[in-house]
Amino acid sequence: MPSLRLGNIAPDFEAETTQGPVKFHEWIGDSWAVLFSHPGDFTPVCTTELAEVARRAPDFAKRNVKVIGISANGLEDHHKWAKDIEEWGGRFAPTTVGFPIIADADRRISTLYDMLDEQDATNRDAKGLPFTIRTVFIIDPKKTIRLLLAYPASTGRNFDEIIRVIDSLQIGDKYRVTTPVNWNKGDDVIVHPSVSTEEAKTLFPEHTVHKPYLRTTPLKVE
Ligand code: BEZ
Repeated sequence: MPSLRLGNIAPDFEAETTQGPVKFHEWIGDSWAVLFSHPGDFTPVCTTELAEVARRAPDFAKRNVKVIGISANGLEDHHKWAKDIEEWGGRFAPTTVGFPIIADADRRISTLYDMLDEQDATNRDAKGLPFTIRTVFIIDPKKTIRLLLAYPASTGRNFDEIIRVIDSLQIGDKYRVTTPVNWNKGDDVIVHPSVSTEEAKTLFPEHTVHKPYLRTTPLKVE
């Protein structure tokens, strides 16, 4: 199967999760989704990541984003590990792993999503099999893949960045704008290059033309 690319429809699947069976597209429904894989249960970096995702649940919910994790372990391990994650997160604030984690012991879905990297020798389980690599897929309500990330096993992801990209994508879908380097919600945005000079005057009356191809504007969003 060719690897997945931005703009592809996220492959649909059925799987067992810590919250019961899931039909992926049906589960996404009219929401956005973040599907993120981690090398394995009972691994240290992943434990900190999942606690963080649990802590950020309100930030995802506010943006109409459902989150689902996956690793190549079975449900029994996932349930035991979730208690460890809650204990770890609980050192900072009460933590509940409120999102499902897919049980993918046979690596069926990891393979479907190209989440196994034979070349990454740093990412092997005790039997020498590749762990799932640390990927993130942001999927929109039309089930289109809008972002792909792959991180090394040694490096925990930055979920501020993932939420920042969701904000950028959602604003870009709604208003004809793009977002500049290091942008965060509330900062000025870039008028999309497809917006003509005439249209820009109406759509973004406060915009500034820095170069004919670089126009910025404040944007009030809720
Ligand atoms: C971790 O999540 O801590 C981890 C997993 C596999 C290899 C290295 C680190």
